Amino acid sequence: MMSAQQMLKVFVTRRIPQEGMKILQKAGMCNLSVWDSDEPVPRAELLKGVAGAHGLLCLLSDKIDAEVLDAAGPNLKVISTLSVGFDHLAIDEIKKRGIRVGYTPDVLTDATAELTVALLLATCRRLPEGVEEVKNGGWSTWKPLWLCGYGLSGSTVGVIGLGRIGLAIARRLKPFGVKRLLYTGRQPKPQAQEIDGEYVPLDTLVRGSDFVVVSCSLTPDTQGLCDKTFFSKMKKTSIFINTSRGAVVNQEDLFGALSSGQIAAAGLDVTTPEPLPTDHPLLTLKNCVVLPHIGSATYSTRGVMSELTANNLLAGLTGSEMPSELKL
Ligand code: NDP
Ligand code: DGY
Repeated sequence: MMSAQQMLKVFVTRRIPQEGMKILQKAGMCNLSVWDSDEPVPRAELLKGVAGAHGLLCLLSDKIDAEVLDAAGPNLKVISTLSVGFDHLAIDEIKKRGIRVGYTPDVLTDATAELTVALLLATCRRLPEGVEEVKNGGWSTWKPLWLCGYGLSGSTVGVIGLGRIGLAIARRLKPFGVKRLLYTGRQPKPQAQEIDGEYVPLDTLVRGSDFVVVSCSLTPDTQGLCDKTFFSKMKKTSIFINTSRGAVVNQEDLFGALSSGQIAAAGLDVTTPEPLPTDHPLLTLKNCVVLPHIGSATYSTRGVMSELTANNLLAGLTGSEMPSELKL
């Protein structure tokens, strides 16, 4: 046990699953300060809370930039984020200050891939519309031409970003009878062999796919990647799915593509901003299914993410090897 003076200050920006909190408490080395709420910490409270901290446990909704790092000051050794995505972290600034970063790859891959498949099926087979029709009396009888959608069997699926989650999505989709699996990224992936994946230029993927699934990370290169030109190349019968980050998509252009019939439908688990305002034009469209960023939301996955985030933080505080350290 450390004495009170030796305790290391840790700021936790949200109420997190108890698995992680228990680990931090048991370690006996942290003077924990928690923004004890399910809602995001206001910026001013973040700047105040982080002052003098040795460790910061944050979420994807916290923008950790130079201002936050300056407010933390020179004690800050480690930032541990409860997410695999790290586009909310100013990596250059963090690197400059010699701060280590922990994140949560792998442990959420299955949950996120599963949700992506659920969203894809819900979108292409029009499940939210169907459920709504049952409730509002629109279901009069079995009709041959009613609520028809598009199926996976015999289709071509294109995955943008065949990383951990992209591959897990492809693995799950193949058994539905997908005929061709195209993917794009910065380089071909040896692991694509397992799913008979064909590495193709983005243009080929967009033009040739019946389902376009976005699972890449958000970077300067992928920001706004799915824009008017992108949608104009897609088939009129194709379905667009995004479970990566909202900013990969130009939402005005997506609205245009959906409302003009340029593409058949879209399913989004991520938007800009989050939450999407309830009066947002995309929410007026029947052919757009929007979920509230729940890709990794299973009880067990969130518990394991919390544990991993806590263990990454402790390793950063003690200068030992992290279970999952982001290589800066
Ligand atoms: P990975 O790093 O394993 O995969 C990211 C992939 O993006 C890599 O294959 C990478 O390709 C690819 N990529 C990078 N730049 C480009 C580009 N310009 N064009 C095409 N592909 C590109 O991460 P994960 O699979 O673990 O996670 C992916 C993302 O999913 C996260 O960054 C996060 O934003 C999001 N996510 C969303 C969740 C949700 O709840 N909806 C849950 C979890 C994650 P390469 O290897 O060639 O660089
Ligand atoms: C992530 O981890 O990046 C997701 O968006 C939430 O699990």
